[in-house]
Amino acid sequence: MKTLLVTGGCGFIGSNFVQYMLDKYSDYRIINLDKLTYAGNLANLMAVEVDARYRFVEGDICDAQVVEPLVQEADYVVNFAAETHVDRSIMGGAEFVQTNINGTYTLLDCAREYGVERFLQVSTDEVYGSIDEGEWTEEWPLEPRSPYSASKASAELLVRAFQITHELPTLITRCSNNIGPYQYPEKRVPLFVTNAIDDLPLPVYGDGSQVRDHLYVEDHCTAIDLVLHTGLVGEAYNVGGDNDATGIEVVKTILDMLGKPESLIQYVTDRKGHDLRYALDSSKLKALGWKPQSDYEEAMQRTVDWYVQNEPWWRSIKSGEDFRTYYARNYGKR
Ligand code: NAD
Ligand code: TYD
Repeated sequence: MKTLLVTGGCGFIGSNFVQYMLDKYSDYRIINLDKLTYAGNLANLMAVEVDARYRFVEGDICDAQVVEPLVQEADYVVNFAAETHVDRSIMGGAEFVQTNINGTYTLLDCAREYGVERFLQVSTDEVYGSIDEGEWTEEWPLEPRSPYSASKASAELLVRAFQITHELPTLITRCSNNIGPYQYPEKRVPLFVTNAIDDLPLPVYGDGSQVRDHLYVEDHCTAIDLVLHTGLVGEAYNVGGDNDATGIEVVKTILDMLGKPESLIQYVTDRKGHDLRYALDSSKLKALGWKPQSDYEEAMQRTVDWYVQNEPWWRSIKSGEDFRTYYARNYGKR
């Protein structure tokens, strides 16, 4: 049996990844270390709670006493745990610095001490900044522009330093905007889908011309699996879905799929420092044999369908204290 330590496994991508790995590999044990912040949700992994190969540990990646024994047990570490929402990082970045930078440092330091076969850091295309035309390759300089992306870029630099200094076998993946089941409905796509179901306004920042690539979360899971097992140590890999769309295209797609009117679109004050465009060249990962399976239409349709079919999951979040406080704070003055 191989032991995989997943951090942040109760979040959106982490929970999809835990489920994917348990389904695919019968000889993997998974330890999920998660602090259960507002974004962590035990309901995301209810289906695997009974699986003897799965163990949940509630704890903080910044806490070396918690992390040490888990890393000691692990053959592989995949670090998803992070504060992830750009708008929250604009309101206040302290927790982003703490978890995303100090937390990654703690994991790296324990991995150096006890040794692991591979340490994979899940990063983001946002570390590159914003690109008006063309696509980023992995050689592009890191030029983050938000407190969130700056904290993720900082974490990457620590990963790089541990690889070079301590020869820790690290890998980095930089993915685009994921969509799919179990995404906390503060992010654009689940927010818009669930607002539209309730005939609430869909708040589009600025003029809606910003471009994002959309990666179906299952395609991200297959990419991480591949990089973890066959990626070249010390390397970073872009993971893009080849599904770019502007803000206006996204909001119209969602309304169209739900049969809702465009009068629900509400243009609101833009995000500070809003990155205009993200675009990834993923040919390095494709050379390892990866290809995204879901195109834009399919990725969006599967996502919309999931939120339509899983109302209790998102209603319990949206009616909760955290979400309502955040929503009033972020959108109240817009
Ligand atoms: P998420 O916000 O849905 O989940 C984050 C998880 O981390 C939660 O379960 C939370 O409880 C946990 N967590 C937070 N702080 C922690 C701490 N100190 N110790 C332990 N656990 C902690 O995030 P996500 O969207 O699933 O993103 C996962 C990773 O992928 C992140 O590293 C993020 O930067 C990266 N990423 C996400 C996207 C995207 O589109 N969602 C795109 C690019 C990169
Ligand atoms: P988001 O889902 O927050 O991801 P990221 O900022 O990490 O790319 O936002 C995606 C895009 O949608 C981004 O251009 C900002 C825009 N957006 C809105 O127009 N309205 C919203 O309410 C949100 C949350 C985002």
